Amino acid sequence: MIKRENILEVNKTGILINSLIPLNTKNKEFSTLMELYDKARSDILEKLNIIKEYFKEIYEYDVINHITSRIKTPESILKKMQKKHYELTYKDLIENINDIAGIRVICTFKDDILKIRKIIGKMPNVRIIKEKDYIKNPKKSGYMGYHIILENYIKYDDTYVPIKVEIQIRTMAMDFWATTEHKIKYKKNHKLSTKNSKKMEIYAKIINILDDKIMKIYQKQVKEKIEK
Ligand code: GTP
Ligand code: MG
Repeated sequence: MIKRENILEVNKTGILINSLIPLNTKNKEFSTLMELYDKARSDILEKLNIIKEYFKEIYEYDVINHITSRIKTPESILKKMQKKHYELTYKDLIENINDIAGIRVICTFKDDILKIRKIIGKMPNVRIIKEKDYIKNPKKSGYMGYHIILENYIKYDDTYVPIKVEIQIRTMAMDFWATTEHKIKYKKNHKLSTKNSKKMEIYAKIINILDDKIMKIYQKQVKEKIEK
Protein backbone atom coordinates (compact mmCIF):
# COMPACT_ATOMS: atom_id res chain seq x y z
CA MET A 1 0.00 0.00 0.00
CA ILE A 2 1.43 3.37 -1.01
CA LYS A 3 1.01 5.94 1.73
CA ARG A 4 -0.05 9.38 0.71
CA GLU A 5 2.00 11.29 3.28
CA ASN A 6 5.22 10.27 1.57
CA ILE A 7 4.49 12.34 -1.51
CA LEU A 8 3.45 15.89 -0.97
CA GLU A 9 0.79 16.19 -3.58
CA VAL A 10 -0.72 14.11 -6.29
CA ASN A 11 -3.54 15.08 -8.62
CA LYS A 12 -5.01 14.41 -12.06
CA THR A 13 -2.24 16.38 -13.73
CA GLY A 14 0.52 14.44 -12.06
CA ILE A 15 2.81 14.23 -9.07
CA LEU A 16 3.83 17.46 -7.41
CA ILE A 17 6.86 17.21 -5.19
CA ASN A 18 7.90 20.29 -3.27
CA SER A 19 10.89 21.74 -5.07
CA LEU A 20 12.58 22.26 -1.71
CA ILE A 21 12.90 18.53 -1.29
CA PRO A 22 16.24 17.52 -2.80
CA LEU A 23 16.37 14.60 -5.21
CA ASN A 24 17.94 11.83 -3.20
CA THR A 25 17.60 8.21 -4.20
CA LYS A 26 17.92 7.15 -0.57
CA ASN A 27 14.91 9.17 0.57
CA LYS A 28 11.34 8.11 1.21
CA GLU A 29 9.99 10.39 -1.55
CA PHE A 30 12.17 8.66 -4.11
CA SER A 31 11.12 5.16 -3.11
CA THR A 32 7.45 6.15 -3.00
CA LEU A 33 7.79 7.59 -6.49
CA MET A 34 9.41 4.36 -7.68
CA GLU A 35 6.54 2.38 -6.14
CA LEU A 36 4.14 4.38 -8.31
CA TYR A 37 6.19 3.66 -11.44
CA ASP A 38 6.29 0.00 -10.50
CA LYS A 39 2.53 -0.06 -10.06
CA ALA A 40 2.11 1.53 -13.50
CA ARG A 41 4.51 -1.06 -14.97
CA SER A 42 2.83 -4.11 -13.42
CA ASP A 43 -0.61 -2.83 -14.37
CA ILE A 44 0.32 -2.52 -18.06
CA LEU A 45 2.18 -5.84 -17.92
CA GLU A 46 -0.92 -7.56 -16.57
CA LYS A 47 -3.07 -6.07 -19.35
CA LEU A 48 -0.53 -7.10 -22.00
CA ASN A 49 -0.49 -10.66 -20.68
CA ILE A 50 -4.25 -10.84 -21.07
CA ILE A 51 -3.88 -9.49 -24.63
CA LYS A 52 -1.19 -12.12 -25.28
CA GLU A 53 -3.64 -14.94 -24.46
CA TYR A 54 -6.46 -13.28 -26.36
CA PHE A 55 -4.35 -12.84 -29.50
CA LYS A 56 -3.17 -16.44 -29.30
CA GLU A 57 -6.75 -17.61 -29.34
CA ILE A 58 -8.01 -15.43 -32.18
CA TYR A 59 -4.97 -15.59 -34.47
CA GLU A 60 -4.01 -19.19 -33.60
CA TYR A 61 -0.34 -18.41 -33.05
CA ASP A 62 1.79 -16.46 -30.58
CA VAL A 63 1.37 -12.92 -31.89
CA ILE A 64 3.12 -11.82 -28.71
CA ASN A 65 6.02 -14.16 -28.17
CA HIS A 66 7.08 -12.83 -24.80
CA ILE A 67 7.09 -9.71 -22.65
CA THR A 68 9.80 -8.38 -20.37
CA SER A 69 9.72 -5.41 -18.05
CA ARG A 70 11.91 -3.53 -15.63
CA ILE A 71 12.19 -0.46 -13.46
CA LYS A 72 15.24 1.70 -14.14
CA THR A 73 17.73 1.54 -11.29
CA PRO A 74 18.34 4.73 -9.24
CA GLU A 75 21.96 4.78 -10.51
CA SER A 76 20.83 4.56 -14.10
CA ILE A 77 18.25 7.33 -13.60
CA LEU A 78 20.86 9.69 -12.14
CA LYS A 79 23.37 8.79 -14.85
CA LYS A 80 20.85 9.59 -17.59
CA MET A 81 19.88 12.91 -15.96
CA GLN A 82 23.52 13.95 -15.74
CA LYS A 83 24.25 12.85 -19.29
CA LYS A 84 21.30 14.84 -20.63
CA HIS A 85 22.16 17.85 -18.43
CA TYR A 86 18.89 17.93 -16.53
CA GLU A 87 18.68 19.57 -13.14
CA LEU A 88 18.79 16.95 -10.44
CA THR A 89 15.26 17.67 -9.23
CA TYR A 90 12.07 15.61 -8.97
CA LYS A 91 10.45 17.97 -11.46
CA ASP A 92 13.06 17.29 -14.14
CA LEU A 93 12.99 13.59 -13.38
CA ILE A 94 9.21 13.27 -13.73
CA GLU A 95 9.04 15.50 -16.80
CA ASN A 96 11.99 14.15 -18.77
CA ILE A 97 12.82 10.59 -17.85
CA ASN A 98 10.20 8.64 -19.75
CA ASP A 99 11.60 5.15 -19.40
CA ILE A 100 11.63 4.59 -15.64
CA ALA A 101 8.93 1.97 -16.16
CA GLY A 102 9.90 0.01 -19.27
CA ILE A 103 8.17 -2.85 -21.03
CA ARG A 104 9.34 -4.79 -24.08
CA VAL A 105 6.85 -6.71 -26.18
CA ILE A 106 8.41 -9.23 -28.56
CA CYS A 107 6.22 -10.43 -31.39
CA THR A 108 6.51 -12.95 -34.22
CA PHE A 109 5.83 -11.08 -37.46
CA LYS A 110 6.43 -7.50 -38.47
CA ASP A 111 2.74 -6.75 -38.94
CA ASP A 112 2.00 -7.99 -35.42
CA ILE A 113 3.51 -4.70 -34.25
CA LEU A 114 0.52 -2.78 -35.60
CA LYS A 115 -1.95 -5.19 -33.97
CA ILE A 116 -0.24 -4.58 -30.63
CA ARG A 117 -0.05 -0.83 -31.15
CA LYS A 118 -3.77 -0.66 -31.93
CA ILE A 119 -4.87 -2.59 -28.87
CA ILE A 120 -2.60 -0.55 -26.58
CA GLY A 121 -4.40 2.53 -27.90
CA LYS A 122 -7.65 1.06 -26.59
CA MET A 123 -6.46 0.28 -23.07
CA PRO A 124 -8.60 1.89 -20.37
CA ASN A 125 -7.03 4.64 -18.24
CA VAL A 126 -4.16 4.98 -20.70
CA ARG A 127 -3.15 7.96 -22.82
CA ILE A 128 -0.43 7.70 -25.46
CA ILE A 129 1.73 10.81 -25.30
CA LYS A 130 4.61 10.01 -27.67
CA GLU A 131 5.37 7.48 -30.40
CA LYS A 132 8.51 6.75 -32.39
CA ASP A 133 8.49 4.44 -35.35
CA TYR A 134 12.06 3.22 -35.74
CA ILE A 135 10.85 0.65 -38.25
CA LYS A 136 9.79 3.20 -40.84
CA ASN A 137 12.76 5.31 -39.76
CA PRO A 138 15.52 3.14 -38.31
CA LYS A 139 18.15 4.79 -36.13
CA LYS A 140 21.58 5.58 -37.54
CA SER A 141 22.88 2.45 -35.78
CA GLY A 142 20.35 0.32 -37.67
CA TYR A 143 18.15 -0.10 -34.59
CA MET A 144 14.52 -0.93 -35.31
CA GLY A 145 11.52 -0.99 -33.02
CA TYR A 146 8.27 0.79 -32.27
CA HIS A 147 8.35 2.96 -29.14
CA ILE A 148 5.36 4.24 -27.23
CA ILE A 149 5.39 6.51 -24.20
CA LEU A 150 2.08 6.44 -22.41
CA GLU A 151 0.54 7.75 -19.26
CA ASN A 152 -1.12 5.09 -17.17
CA TYR A 153 -3.63 6.52 -14.72
CA ILE A 154 -2.90 4.79 -11.45
CA LYS A 155 -5.34 4.88 -8.55
CA TYR A 156 -3.73 6.61 -5.62
CA ASP A 157 -5.93 7.21 -2.57
CA ASP A 158 -9.01 8.99 -3.90
CA THR A 159 -7.53 10.17 -7.19
CA TYR A 160 -5.93 8.90 -10.39
CA VAL A 161 -2.41 9.99 -11.19
CA PRO A 162 -0.73 9.71 -14.61
CA ILE A 163 2.50 7.69 -14.56
CA LYS A 164 4.67 7.30 -17.66
CA VAL A 165 5.50 3.90 -19.08
CA GLU A 166 7.69 3.20 -22.11
CA ILE A 167 6.72 0.27 -24.32
CA GLN A 168 9.09 -1.02 -26.97
CA ILE A 169 7.56 -3.37 -29.54
CA ARG A 170 9.91 -5.47 -31.67
CA THR A 171 9.85 -8.66 -33.70
CA MET A 172 12.03 -11.54 -32.47
CA ALA A 173 14.45 -10.73 -35.29
CA MET A 174 14.70 -7.05 -34.32
CA ASP A 175 15.10 -8.08 -30.70
CA PHE A 176 17.92 -10.44 -31.63
CA TRP A 177 19.73 -7.55 -33.31
CA ALA A 178 19.13 -5.07 -30.47
CA THR A 179 20.05 -7.35 -27.58
CA THR A 180 23.18 -8.70 -29.23
CA GLU A 181 24.28 -5.25 -30.42
CA HIS A 182 23.81 -3.99 -26.85
CA LYS A 183 25.96 -6.85 -25.51
CA ILE A 184 28.69 -6.24 -28.07
CA LYS A 185 28.76 -2.51 -27.31
CA TYR A 186 28.74 -3.12 -23.56
CA LYS A 187 32.10 -4.82 -23.79
CA LYS A 188 33.82 -1.68 -24.92
CA ASN A 189 32.35 1.37 -23.21
CA HIS A 190 29.14 1.22 -25.23
CA LYS A 191 31.02 2.02 -28.42
CA LEU A 192 31.70 0.22 -31.67
CA SER A 193 34.45 1.00 -34.17
CA THR A 194 33.29 2.74 -37.37
CA LYS A 195 33.87 -0.46 -39.31
CA ASN A 196 31.86 -2.58 -36.89
CA SER A 197 29.00 -0.13 -36.60
CA LYS A 198 28.77 -0.07 -40.40
CA LYS A 199 28.58 -3.87 -40.33
CA MET A 200 25.87 -3.83 -37.66
CA GLU A 201 23.89 -1.34 -39.71
CA ILE A 202 24.03 -3.68 -42.71
CA TYR A 203 23.05 -6.67 -40.57
CA ALA A 204 20.02 -4.73 -39.30
CA LYS A 205 18.98 -4.21 -42.93
CA ILE A 206 19.42 -7.92 -43.65
CA ILE A 207 17.30 -8.76 -40.61
CA ASN A 208 14.63 -6.41 -41.90
CA ILE A 209 14.62 -8.17 -45.27
CA LEU A 210 14.25 -11.54 -43.51
CA ASP A 211 11.42 -10.18 -41.38
CA ASP A 212 9.58 -9.10 -44.54
CA LYS A 213 10.24 -12.34 -46.42
CA ILE A 214 9.17 -14.61 -43.56
CA MET A 215 6.03 -12.57 -42.99
CA LYS A 216 5.14 -12.93 -46.68
CA ILE A 217 5.52 -16.71 -46.53
CA TYR A 218 3.19 -16.78 -43.54
CA GLN A 219 0.62 -14.55 -45.26
CA LYS A 220 0.70 -16.77 -48.33
CA GLN A 221 0.09 -19.89 -46.22
CA VAL A 222 -2.87 -18.23 -44.51
CA LYS A 223 -4.30 -17.16 -47.86
CA GLU A 224 -3.96 -20.66 -49.29
CA LYS A 225 -5.68 -22.12 -46.24
CA ILE A 226 -8.62 -19.75 -46.60
CA GLU A 227 -8.97 -20.46 -50.33
CA LYS A 228 -8.98 -24.23 -49.83
P1 GTP B 1 17.27 7.32 -24.43
O1 GTP B 1 17.79 8.51 -23.76
O2 GTP B 1 18.33 6.28 -24.70
O3 GTP B 1 16.08 6.72 -23.74
O4 GTP B 1 16.84 7.84 -25.86
P2 GTP B 1 15.50 8.52 -26.32
O5 GTP B 1 14.83 9.20 -25.20
O6 GTP B 1 15.75 9.29 -27.59
O7 GTP B 1 14.61 7.25 -26.65
P3 GTP B 1 14.65 6.30 -27.89
O8 GTP B 1 13.29 6.33 -28.46
O9 GTP B 1 15.79 6.57 -28.79
O10 GTP B 1 14.84 4.89 -27.22
C1 GTP B 1 15.91 4.55 -26.44
C2 GTP B 1 15.85 3.06 -26.18
O11 GTP B 1 15.74 2.36 -27.41
C3 GTP B 1 17.11 2.55 -25.55
O12 GTP B 1 16.98 2.53 -24.16
C4 GTP B 1 17.27 1.15 -26.15
O13 GTP B 1 16.48 0.23 -25.44
C5 GTP B 1 16.67 1.30 -27.51
N1 GTP B 1 17.67 1.69 -28.52
C6 GTP B 1 17.72 2.87 -29.18
N2 GTP B 1 18.75 2.91 -30.02
C7 GTP B 1 19.40 1.72 -29.91
C8 GTP B 1 20.57 1.16 -30.54
O14 GTP B 1 21.23 1.76 -31.38
N3 GTP B 1 20.93 -0.10 -30.13
C9 GTP B 1 20.21 -0.80 -29.22
N4 GTP B 1 20.63 -2.01 -28.90
N5 GTP B 1 19.12 -0.29 -28.62
C10 GTP B 1 18.71 0.94 -28.95
MG1 MG C 1 15.97 4.05 -22.45
